[in-house]
Amino acid sequence: MKQRVWLLLVLMLWASLGLAQRFRSLDQIQADGTIVIGTEGAFPPFNFFDEGNLVGFDIEIGQALAERLGVKYEWKAQAFDTLLIALNQGRFDFVIASHTITPERAQAVDFTKPYYCTGNLIVALPGGPRTPEELKGKVVGVQVGTTYFEYAQTIEGIKEIKTYQTNPDALQDLLNQRIDAWITDQFTALEAMKQRDVELQLSDLLVREEIGIAVAKGNETLLAALNNALDEILADGTYAAISEKWFGQDIRCK
Ligand code: ARG
Repeated sequence: MKQRVWLLLVLMLWASLGLAQRFRSLDQIQADGTIVIGTEGAFPPFNFFDEGNLVGFDIEIGQALAERLGVKYEWKAQAFDTLLIALNQGRFDFVIASHTITPERAQAVDFTKPYYCTGNLIVALPGGPRTPEELKGKVVGVQVGTTYFEYAQTIEGIKEIKTYQTNPDALQDLLNQRIDAWITDQFTALEAMKQRDVELQLSDLLVREEIGIAVAKGNETLLAALNNALDEILADGTYAAISEKWFGQDIRCK
């Protein structure tokens, strides 16, 4: 009995120190038969809900990768700025939500090689700001927890940076003229014009971004398998078809 109590205490200490492995290895996932994938679900056309179903480029890439690993998939959607923390707590096996690979994030999680490359830009109503200099004295909206927020903070003279829980929330405030500009991804800006049927002014691309899939820090077996699976779908036409469907072009990094 006493021994058991000791064992329990040691285990609790181990877990509380974060030393316990909080991720499932490739073997464990394959033995279970289902991989759990995390995303946001509010970043069209990459990951969003359409009539209650998760759809988009990220979703189809995630599913294609799961198929290559020979497992079924289960999606969990939650706020963008909580995804990487939840990943390290073991809530998902991997996260695909258009995360830019940054040195800060790469300290917390491990990223695959980039699955696409893109750029951010300034979106405004016609006649609004179209360069970082023109953002002086302006109110700029960005999604919380994104590289757009980080980038906005480096621009001098912005009057106010407003953060939004989701990217479409920022778009809405731009359309309502509560902000002067919105910093976002180029493809999300094009999608916004299409979906909302509005004319928006898009600046030149400002920062190039390499986008990766995240696994829990140290999950080497899953990381290697995802990188292999990504190579396969890039080579066999699966990736090209998905990209063509959503963007009319191939957005892999060149
Ligand atoms: N690429 C940007 C970043 O990493 C934006 C990603 C936003 N993704 C999303 N699902 N809202 O910060």
